[in-house]
Amino acid sequence: MALKHPRTAGHAGRDLEVNPIFSREPLTIPRYALPAGELDPGTAYQVVHDELMLDGNARLNLATFVSTWAEPEALRLMDECAAKNMIDKDEYPRTAELEMRCVHMLARLWHAEDPRRTVGCSTTGSSEAAMLGGLALKRRWRARREAAGLPADRPNLVMGVNVQICWEKFANYFEVEPRYVPMEGGRFHLGAREAVELCDENTIGVVAVLGSTFDGSYEPVAEIAAALDDLQARTGIDVPIHVDGASGAMIAPFLDPGLEWDFRLPRVASINTSGHKYGLVMPGVGWALWRDEDALPDDLVFHVNYLGGDMPTFALNFSRPGAQVVAQYYAFLRLGFDGYRRVQQTCRDVATGLADAIGRLGPFETLTDGGDIPVFAFRVREDAGGFTVYDVSAALRECGWLVPAYTFPENRTDLAVLRVVVRNGFGHDLADLFLDDLRRVLRRLRSQKGPGRDASEATGFAHGAEPKKTRAAKV
Ligand SMILES: Cc1ncc(COP(=O)(O)O)c(C=O)c1O
Repeated sequence: MALKHPRTAGHAGRDLEVNPIFSREPLTIPRYALPAGELDPGTAYQVVHDELMLDGNARLNLATFVSTWAEPEALRLMDECAAKNMIDKDEYPRTAELEMRCVHMLARLWHAEDPRRTVGCSTTGSSEAAMLGGLALKRRWRARREAAGLPADRPNLVMGVNVQICWEKFANYFEVEPRYVPMEGGRFHLGAREAVELCDENTIGVVAVLGSTFDGSYEPVAEIAAALDDLQARTGIDVPIHVDGASGAMIAPFLDPGLEWDFRLPRVASINTSGHKYGLVMPGVGWALWRDEDALPDDLVFHVNYLGGDMPTFALNFSRPGAQVVAQYYAFLRLGFDGYRRVQQTCRDVATGLADAIGRLGPFETLTDGGDIPVFAFRVREDAGGFTVYDVSAALRECGWLVPAYTFPENRTDLAVLRVVVRNGFGHDLADLFLDDLRRVLRRLRSQKGPGRDASEATGFAHGAEPKKTRAAKV
């Protein structure tokens, strides 16, 4: 499906007048049609570059979980690999080898029982990895049902209503009933008891999120696994877990080594993470790993005889850039375990420090403290008076900071929050400057007569923490 043509009100419908600036000939360039002739590269570059100046500053984007800073050496390697297509494993065998090394490094990091039996692949991000993880769950469930001569036409997937939008997409695209556990009181993510209550013999799996998109909190994966063990002991229903560790799977191994959330729990069948989040690579890479070959049905794997080699692939895309995978390997080599721990600890220190300082400003209450993934959500206290989270978001935007404001899903739609994502490159200094700006905008907001903006005027993009279309299941 193509995106609709933008409405052509105002200037947008006009051709682009490129006056004799840049000391060159005047030009006219159509905006929405392929130009008839050529431009010289310098002019074309300048025109594109100038338009992009109006984008927000990526480093000040506190909405995104995705890397906005990388070392020059990583960028140089990406540049050198710009022409490499990840699918051409036969032509670029060393790139393919680096991909496999990354899979094995992650398998060890996530405590696979036998890392040599772990299977996995790179993806474009956690969304694609979630589709693959969900598909494997669905296929395994179907095979079990068919082998037992039972109907296999009504699969469901149990998850918290706080899952990222990619899980709603998975359910929609692959025709699985999504069963969302709503939030309740101060529980802003999936609870073990509530998950089990929604499971039945048609449940293909439970998704547990390590680092909720809504507030940064870890879901209690070990408790969910124990509750599912109990369910199996009572009823015989055996429900595997997929851990969506988009952010947390690259935080917990370094900062919370005692926390059992990964392949140490036998019930965890598969895990995804975003290499481009706390894996510290620029946008375009994720990872999906399965405990062993049994967890990834072979009929999902395509064996392509391509350019003379046998190439097993499990991916939604065919062609895909190889540069990000190379950059992931670079980051693993360059930082090692200690380097990752240092970077993630700094992010956590900045997040917890900033959350604490915001909590002490007066009008805000923090819902999370940045102590799981370095992400926290805060709201405006009811007695704070004349402004909303949407006012705060809009005011911060005037200073260049992009901080999303959004409402929580069922049953806490009464709760509107702001969220800050601390990433590598957002250090103590920038956090201090952010706090100065927040104090400054507060002085103005406190003096306004009443709330200015509501949810309908929210400007910040919540990076997948949007309400689900399907109503949450009641438990
Ligand atoms: C928990 C969670 N899962 C999945 C995703 C989607 O990840 P990606 O942007 O890598 O596709 C996100 C993105 O923020 C997320 O927070």
